Amino acid sequence: MNKGWLSRLLGSLAVLVPLLFYGHGGSAAFVAATKESADPEVSHLMAKSLKSRQTDVRQAALAWLARDPRAQNKRLIRAVFRTLKDKDPGVRNQALANLGWIYERDFADKTGRRALAAVKKALANPSEHAAALVAVDLLRGSAEKGEYDENQGGAPKEHLLSNPGIQTLVVPLLASRESSLRPELLQVVENSPLLQSLPPVIEAVGEALGDDDLTVRSDAADLLIAIDRKGKPEALAKAHPLLLRALAEGDPNVQIRVSRALNLPVPPRKAAPPVLSLTGEKVSTADVPFDFNYFTAFVQPLFAKKYGGEACVDCHTPQANTTGKFRVMAPKADGHYTVEESRVNFVSVLAVVDRANLEKSKVLLKPLDPRASEGKLQGETHDGGVFWRNQFDPDFRLVDDWLKGAKLDVPPQKQLDFAYFMKHVEPIFSTPGPDGFACINCHSTHAILHLESPETREGSFSIEQMANNYQSAHRVIDESAPGSSFIVRKPTSPREGANGLAHAGGIRWPDKKDSWQYRTLIDWMGKRNLDGQ
Ligand code: HEC
Ligand code: HEC
Repeated sequence: MNKGWLSRLLGSLAVLVPLLFYGHGGSAAFVAATKESADPEVSHLMAKSLKSRQTDVRQAALAWLARDPRAQNKRLIRAVFRTLKDKDPGVRNQALANLGWIYERDFADKTGRRALAAVKKALANPSEHAAALVAVDLLRGSAEKGEYDENQGGAPKEHLLSNPGIQTLVVPLLASRESSLRPELLQVVENSPLLQSLPPVIEAVGEALGDDDLTVRSDAADLLIAIDRKGKPEALAKAHPLLLRALAEGDPNVQIRVSRALNLPVPPRKAAPPVLSLTGEKVSTADVPFDFNYFTAFVQPLFAKKYGGEACVDCHTPQANTTGKFRVMAPKADGHYTVEESRVNFVSVLAVVDRANLEKSKVLLKPLDPRASEGKLQGETHDGGVFWRNQFDPDFRLVDDWLKGAKLDVPPQKQLDFAYFMKHVEPIFSTPGPDGFACINCHSTHAILHLESPETREGSFSIEQMANNYQSAHRVIDESAPGSSFIVRKPTSPREGANGLAHAGGIRWPDKKDSWQYRTLIDWMGKRNLDGQ
């Protein structure tokens, strides 16, 4: 967790090294002197550099000062405060980066209060993003030094994070959905046992479980899990219920993390109130053993699917005069249903399901070929015609598996188009990269993006594996920001991530964002299965 420090170091070297080579007047001498760390001379040069008319010299001096405790001299404090009002934003932010040591040094007097006020001001204005990030970086530095360690005994030394005013500012910034500082603040909490012991902070981390960004949601989940494992009793008492709620209501990615950490299954979702079917029966989904998520993702789309020129909904809507009990609503012009319509369709299909003998269900047998030559099942004659050649037809299998109890973790609101997935996304998982490996070769052992080869020995596709892959893919996508989804960021990240993300499988698509795989996945993430979300 030395990232903040390292980037500051690199940042300052990036400024200093060119100065050294191109020799901006006194700055080369300044660099040489700081290297040798001749104290009085350093502060003299530092003072001079802080007053320099060259922006990059002022900035370099401040960057150096922020990271070199030997140079941090009382006499420079006034000059730092002056550069807080510099006309250059880069210089102002580097000045801000110095307020940590100034505060720690003089927290009890006016100087300390002034430093504290400036840090608070930067935190309170997240719209000035660069400055706010510098302030968060100061907090991270404060957390990393870990002065607060009860186990070591002794009075904790005052530092930024031990200030209640700062703590109070952190909470809403972490809790707010709009906050642009959430990802960085989560890291601060991750490094700070002090913040982890504060109930309002833990609650704010709980709020981040619902962030739009998948990475933020997963980080928040992992953080709460860590608190739940090692936290003090009060912290644990706060974190545990949040985890249980996330297990029941969180998105699939969060659910699986929590489920594995707590060793608890994902509980079934709360049942919706009874719905009136199109044939006039009141049915509560809770009384039905069939899975609603699976229905909306895989079964319902078949009713609107065009087989040749015809779809079930051409003949089987309440408006059509077809005899018999099979009624479903027609989708909107774009082929999509709402959740409410799906509930009605779900209970309506039950009219043609034989619960005592599932294989005799008319919804299976009417579209099936009565003269099917493969398999032991044959269809019933159907005025609507034949839709499925035999019982191995993938569409027959989807309905059959559903009736046999197949389930899907992804709730309707989160589901993406399955037909598109089958046709365009699944091939991505099985297409080998330049090294001969495909996603499925490595990911068959993973818990999160768990992929199985859907190719059966007969060369046809296995619906179970397809459904599994579809479900897994949903755990690594971010609907609100497709480009930041793991499903596209991992395969375009190198083995050793320089800043942030790495993928142990390396870069899978040499063309990265220009690859057909990237574009297809981004496209897919824009295709909701249901309407009106
Ligand atoms: C061109 C119109 C048409 C299409 C398209 C059509 N059907 Fe039918 N279906 C009928 C007619 C007419 C009947 C009533 C006569 C019969 O049982 O064959 C019927 C009967 C049924 C029944 C039996 C209802 C009962 O209560 O006995 C089921 C179940 C059924 N169809 C399912 C489907 C499914 C599933 C699809 C789409 C994959 C579909 N049908 C497509 C016209 C159609
Ligand atoms: C050579 C093996 C290998 C290949 C091929 C591979 N990966 Fe991975 N992938 C890994 C390993 C190991 C991890 C776990 C460590 C990590 O996160 O980097 C991983 C992690 C991931 C994750 C994070 C979730 C998880 O399951 O851990 C995603 C998402 C991911 N890979 C996507 C892909 C995609 C998409 C492809 C195909 C385009 C792919 N990977 C191909 C080895 C591979």
